[in-house]
Amino acid sequence: MCGIIGIASNKPVSINIINSLKKLEYRGYDSAGLATLHQNTIIEKKCSGRVEELEKILFNSPSNGNLGIGHVRWATHGIPNETNAHPHSSDIVSVVHNGIIENSDELKKKLELKGSKFKSQTDTEVITLMITDLLKNNDPLESVIKTLKQLKGSFALGIIFKNFENYIIGARRGSPLAVGYANNENFLGSDSYALKSMTNKISYLDDGDICLLTKDKIDFYDANKKRINKKIHLLSDDENISSKGDYKNFMSKEIFEQPITAQNCIKEYIDNLKQDINIYNFPIEPNKINKIILIGCGTAYHSCLVAKYWIEELTTIEVEVDIASEFRYRKLKFNKNNLYIFISQSGETADTAAALDICKKNNVKTCSIVNAVESTIARNSDWVLPIHAGPEIGVASTKAFLGQMLVLYILSLKLGHTRKDIDDKSYQHNLKNLKLIPNAIKESLKIESNIQLMAKEFLDAKGSMFLGRGLSFPIALEGALKLKELSYLHAEGYPAGEMKHGPLALIEEGLPVIVIAPEDKYFEKTLSNMQEVIARGGKILFITNQKKVLVNENIRFSIKVPLLDNMLSPILLTIPIQLLAYHVALLKGCDIDKPRNLAKSVTVE
Ligand code: F6R
Repeated sequence: MCGIIGIASNKPVSINIINSLKKLEYRGYDSAGLATLHQNTIIEKKCSGRVEELEKILFNSPSNGNLGIGHVRWATHGIPNETNAHPHSSDIVSVVHNGIIENSDELKKKLELKGSKFKSQTDTEVITLMITDLLKNNDPLESVIKTLKQLKGSFALGIIFKNFENYIIGARRGSPLAVGYANNENFLGSDSYALKSMTNKISYLDDGDICLLTKDKIDFYDANKKRINKKIHLLSDDENISSKGDYKNFMSKEIFEQPITAQNCIKEYIDNLKQDINIYNFPIEPNKINKIILIGCGTAYHSCLVAKYWIEELTTIEVEVDIASEFRYRKLKFNKNNLYIFISQSGETADTAAALDICKKNNVKTCSIVNAVESTIARNSDWVLPIHAGPEIGVASTKAFLGQMLVLYILSLKLGHTRKDIDDKSYQHNLKNLKLIPNAIKESLKIESNIQLMAKEFLDAKGSMFLGRGLSFPIALEGALKLKELSYLHAEGYPAGEMKHGPLALIEEGLPVIVIAPEDKYFEKTLSNMQEVIARGGKILFITNQKKVLVNENIRFSIKVPLLDNMLSPILLTIPIQLLAYHVALLKGCDIDKPRNLAKSVTVE
């Protein structure tokens, strides 16, 4: 989703703006642009498509200037083209914006009555033209503050001014924004990752904050122009990500590094000397937890669904699962003995962050399970359990899903044991199995060549269906999500027992149906549901961990992952569904790391 960069320096900035925009590419975008200030002139360059296009434009016609802003845009208002790309500039102001201005139509009408002329279809241009108008009688900071007071919606902004060669103004409400400090240079960025190659000293703006940034210093103000101070965070240097190595794309790298992802996560949480899980400082004493509410979006939501089964199995705590975009608008009854757990890879997902804010306003205890520990969601929650997966660049979440499941399983185990819902023997047994996971994932990845063959079955398909029961039901949902987002093939995930209640009508001759059937208490029942599909012509692709090979002439392909404890089956059964989506997309020639219309960090609701 949109990304912002701003640099005030004692040397030309355009190359560093381009380099930082490249770091923001992972968020997903469809156009790019930058504006620099040189000899009292705003120089704006924009294009639809990739940052490389912008780089070519600059190569042919360099942009001078020691101060500038850049942007990658993920279209909301107006199609992705050069005119709608950011920055949006008048003669005297240039603006980059993340977020959505909800009252832009109304503001636009007012500006048009005053004679302002709009060039683009975006909501952002109202900000540019409002500031331009206010600058007639106000200084830049006052013009920005007066403009912000009239905006409804969410924003992170970077603004430069023709007659003020020195400074960039940044402002935040609802969309993340950070600043970075260096010698003779200061930076503005929509996340710390974009700034990391230039500095490890970062401050985060909170909602309502404004910053005024020059090459020498950064001043912070609240919405009423009162000076405020910000803490400086030193970023850890824990990433080894920027290259795909020998892999074709980041997604395959991220799928194949999952044995290491699992190992790192387990190492962080399991104390091998004490044979215990080192999770402490629960925000609510475990025995007093009345209910756990798990909240996330997309793949993260699927990890919540898996965890519901685990928490129910390993503890006596009640569990609810919610989609963040639904949770945030419902009339909820908060209880101080409930623990609200937010799952997010990026830690910046707007709906999840808003759901967390609502919990905070209602004074209940919150926990976040995140990959990005320096993110908004991590910073705003009472308790953070990182997944330690390392940066995930492919838009489709793979290793982060694995990390989320692992941390949720580890947390469920710890809660069950601390509350004495499970005894020492079963706790130790589960810990022992958990440590077998990295190797079992390595084994599971060996099925790739079979999956490649299986993927061919999807080339002419009109749609597909994923079925599972119990712990495999969320994996069926995840399988369908992965397939549709990567290969653009319609896919539905269903609890196999639901088929007769409607979806069976979709089964026709040759429709690929992926049946996820581990050797658990549902196995026979799932096979019966599978027979119903076979009887109607569905083409079965069977994924299991059962010891005995199931021979059935109607099963087109059978894929087997290692059999560990039943409770851990979702972790291993995830590998085939990830590889399947990947290989179908590869065969169809889709953009694996950047599927169409999607963004990595969903910072608007
Ligand atoms: C799907 C996918 C998305 C994300 C969702 C939440 O592959 O990646 O569904 O899981 O947008 O993102 P985070 O986890 O960053 O909150």
